[in-house]
Amino acid sequence: LVAGPDWADEVRRLARERDAVVLAHNYQRPEIQDVADHTGDSLALSRIAAASDASTIVFCGVHFMAETAKILASEKTVLIPDARAGCSLADSITADELRAWKAEHPGAVVVSYVNTTAAVKAETDVCCTSSNAVEVVESIDADRDVLFLPDQFLGAHVRRVTGRSNLHIWAGECHVHAGINGAELTAQAQADPEADLFVHPECGCATSALYLAGAGAVPADQVHILSTGGMLDAAKNTTKRSVLVATEVGMLHQLRRANPDVDFRAVNDRAACSYMKMITPGALTRALRDGRDEVHVDAATAQKARGAVQRMIEIGQ
Ligand code: 13P
Ligand code: SF4
Repeated sequence: LVAGPDWADEVRRLARERDAVVLAHNYQRPEIQDVADHTGDSLALSRIAAASDASTIVFCGVHFMAETAKILASEKTVLIPDARAGCSLADSITADELRAWKAEHPGAVVVSYVNTTAAVKAETDVCCTSSNAVEVVESIDADRDVLFLPDQFLGAHVRRVTGRSNLHIWAGECHVHAGINGAELTAQAQADPEADLFVHPECGCATSALYLAGAGAVPADQVHILSTGGMLDAAKNTTKRSVLVATEVGMLHQLRRANPDVDFRAVNDRAACSYMKMITPGALTRALRDGRDEVHVDAATAQKARGAVQRMIEIGQ
């Protein structure tokens, strides 16, 4: 399938016929991002899904994102173009494991990253994304223990920023972000000492970026630990000629569009999420034409998860 103007017209026509809004995460293929009604990070897309008056949401992203939209808008039809688009981070904790962890820490507040299954969200007090994780944790009384899951690198970032020693962190990780390593970042930063560094907090190299700043190898004001949405805002305002980007490579499309004069370069150009890339142009056309794959969350789970997800979209507005 050639994803040219005819394909884009067909997608727009099918979306109108179905009264559908098409949402695309910043890691989607460029042609999917360009045809969508809205692109954004996990938090922005959740908010748009909750506020949309379309009767169908087509979520071009991974399964937990579409589930989150369904939890927030259970009366709507939610479609994902390929239901096999999972997430290694969401797979790193099950609801049973979370129940066992909670039993070890009675009274602790559970903060789950949005990259979790609906069943895990149903066991959660408040969800967060990388855009508002710090604010979510800061909203919890300082003397309460917090269980933060499942991402260990985002957890370490939140602990660093909040200085909270009663934050317990699950040892999960995203295989794509964990693979963006400190050695590559250090070599590139040293080769281009003027460049800003945009680093997603899910990255294993987030610590190296801070180390580089702490060691004086890179001025601290050149290191920015940001969600994908935060990267986009920072890209619009940067005065730098080059920026090193440590996250999934799909992000480069939006960054280059936002500021074409800047040389945005991936720290690791092999950091592609194969789940995100399952949403192909052909899969999107099929989703709109045939109404599949439909995402279901059973009513009891959705009801238990809804409070935690709603608190997430309210914090950090
Ligand atoms: P954000 O878009 O919220 O920064 O999340 C990144 C991510 O890994 C989604 O899979
Ligand atoms: Fe999950 Fe990582 Fe892919 Fe994001 S990049 S969807 S966290 S596997």
